[in-house]
Amino acid sequence: MTATNRSRALASFVGAFDATPDILVQAPGRVNLIGEHTDYNDGFVLPCAIDFQTVVAARVRDDAVVRVVAADFNQALDEFRLDAPIPHKAKQPWANYVRGVFAVMAARGLPLRGMNLSIAGDVPRGAGLSSSASLEVAVGLGIQHTSGLDALSRTELARIAQQAENDFVGCQCGIMDQLISAQGSAGHALLIDCRDLSTTPVPVPEGTAILIVHSNVRRGLVDSAYNERRAQCREAAAHLGVASLRDATRDALEAARDTLDDVCWRRARHVLTENERTVAAAQALRDGDLVTLGRLMAHSHRSMRQDFEITVPAIDRLVDILQQAIGPQGGARMTGGGFGGCVVAVLPETAVPQAVAAVQAQYRSPDGQPGTVHVTTPVDGAQRVPRTV
Ligand code: GLA
Repeated sequence: MTATNRSRALASFVGAFDATPDILVQAPGRVNLIGEHTDYNDGFVLPCAIDFQTVVAARVRDDAVVRVVAADFNQALDEFRLDAPIPHKAKQPWANYVRGVFAVMAARGLPLRGMNLSIAGDVPRGAGLSSSASLEVAVGLGIQHTSGLDALSRTELARIAQQAENDFVGCQCGIMDQLISAQGSAGHALLIDCRDLSTTPVPVPEGTAILIVHSNVRRGLVDSAYNERRAQCREAAAHLGVASLRDATRDALEAARDTLDDVCWRRARHVLTENERTVAAAQALRDGDLVTLGRLMAHSHRSMRQDFEITVPAIDRLVDILQQAIGPQGGARMTGGGFGGCVVAVLPETAVPQAVAAVQAQYRSPDGQPGTVHVTTPVDGAQRVPRTV
């Protein structure tokens, strides 16, 4: 897959600019094992970087122009200047992820150079696997290498990518997707404390498989529903008198049962319990205790369905099918922002065939599509890659 993305990025670059690039970089998508909607509440998440990625090829120019070609959009071109404010591009949504990263870096006073870029990726879009974060981080790393910004840390790179999405694209996402794309570790999930952004790699035990199943349910109203959840969490935190829900206790939440609006109360209960589950799940994974991990994943899904209300019936059904096929030796839950997209399952490798067979036999999306199954391996985060394929 990597080689295909690389060769497509190279061919796209040569086709558009009639020259070879100076560098190639890649940044992966992610799957979150547990810890949903906790990142913007200063909580814990447990994602891993996956073997789908975005590749960016880059070559500096002598002027202040940036030209971008997108292999995945029929060689569509974008062009803007670095010596003037960078405007939005209403008709080419993909271009705003690229423009946003440049705009944020420029606003931070980083010395940027004009450059030609090509982009090719295979992270499924709209699936909850962070195709946008992988694009932002790949662009950021490409700029870092071509502009000689050696001092930029991976955490700063992730923050820049997140800010591009918050301020330029307009989605108020947290830091999880960009941070795991920038800092993933092969063979590991990463326990991230989203308060101080410290990361603890947790090895995925030998013989354990991570399965991603795309429900093929198209996600609707994602940004507005996402931003609404953020607002409800803020309201709950304010009511409980804490800066973020990370600081709220279960006792304080119980005490607010009758004074806090019921919807906000349930949103807060999800966040508090999900934080506890995520820390416990990291320990279970470290211990190779898939029974405990599976139970925590099941509770997480129930909490997303009942308290956070971000699942949809087809996803609930897919989780049930997987859980029944896997049995107690693992678990399944929706992954990502919600309202469609993918389910993640963690299970013994030996149970993969029965899980896949169950999905194929029993699952159909509302418009009759089967689920798309992918067995993934945690990979390293964003990196420079050879120019030869
Ligand atoms: C999206 C956001 C993340 C995170 C998840 C939910 O993927 O980009 O920051 O909030 O939703 O856990």
